[in-house]
Amino acid sequence: MIGDWLDIGPTDQIAPGNARTLPVRGGEEIAVFHTMDNQFYALVNKCPHKQGPLSQGIVHGNVVTCPLHNWNISLKTGEALGDDEGCVPTIPLRVDAGRIYLLREAVVAKRAAVAKAA
Ligand code: FES
Repeated sequence: MIGDWLDIGPTDQIAPGNARTLPVRGGEEIAVFHTMDNQFYALVNKCPHKQGPLSQGIVHGNVVTCPLHNWNISLKTGEALGDDEGCVPTIPLRVDAGRIYLLREAVVAKRAAVAKAA
């Protein structure tokens, strides 16, 4: 099953509380987050409000606060929390032997969807 997952590098490339972006050729940029309690999550790097770069937000618990207008977005579900409404796609992610993997079809499907829309 390893072939279905894209190896995007070692876990220690992202410090706890930080995020890294991953450009997807022809698709949406992906933000990979490392939380303070050592969880990893991947979301499309666009806030559901006005497409703010979530990778530049502040991570607290399993939530990122958008840098533009402070919406709180769940890293687990991609949903806006509190009174705000909206959802950003999440990308299945797993960690194995110190490396981060993203589900290939989630990354590739986004690329195909964008290609169709173009
Ligand atoms: S763009 Fe993220 S809160 Fe407005």
